[in-house]
Amino acid sequence: MNPIANNVALALSFFICLSFFPSLNAVPDITKTCEQTKHKELCIASFKESYIGRYLPDNAQPDLIASIIIKIVVNNASDVSRNLKTTVLEGPVPLTPEVRAKYGICDHEVVSAMKELDKARTAMESRNHKAEKFNMKAAVTNTENCENELKQVEAQLPDKKQFDEVIMLKNLLENVEDIVKTIK
Ligand SMILES: *[C@@H]1O[C@H](CO)[C@@H](O)[C@H](O)[C@H]1NC(C)=O
Repeated sequence: MNPIANNVALALSFFICLSFFPSLNAVPDITKTCEQTKHKELCIASFKESYIGRYLPDNAQPDLIASIIIKIVVNNASDVSRNLKTTVLEGPVPLTPEVRAKYGICDHEVVSAMKELDKARTAMESRNHKAEKFNMKAAVTNTENCENELKQVEAQLPDKKQFDEVIMLKNLLENVEDIVKTIK
């Protein structure tokens, strides 16, 4: 090959590379990340509503998005747990022993979910994605257990608010699970 042809070939391969580069390196933003989740609207809302989520840069990488949503969901879970304790278990409305027991189990499960979330966060920081997925799945299961306990006494619940919060927490956790799955 003569030097000019060589240069043309070089330039050509450079352009071919450039045209592939953006698609390979496309920076997933929150919307793109949330599109991969089961509860898309809730996913986007959870970032917008949260103080830490609102300041996430548009071009944040998936692992940053995942670590932020874990923090958001940890805060959410601790609010859910606090509400279960203060407004229900220690609340003004008398509960039947059966309903009280269900709420008690439910709260234990939410506390366990928070511990699993913490483990998932640690696993994420050490890039142990296998452990991360495992802990996220466990957190979802804990929250499902809580939901199932309340479902058994749904008609007797003094207020549906905490029940709805538990379901929302489960949906948020399922979203985190989906986001974590997208990270290699
Ligand atoms: C949990 O997060 C969702 C989504 O951001 C929000 O709508 C809900 O109010 C939160 N629940 C609590 C108890 O903070």
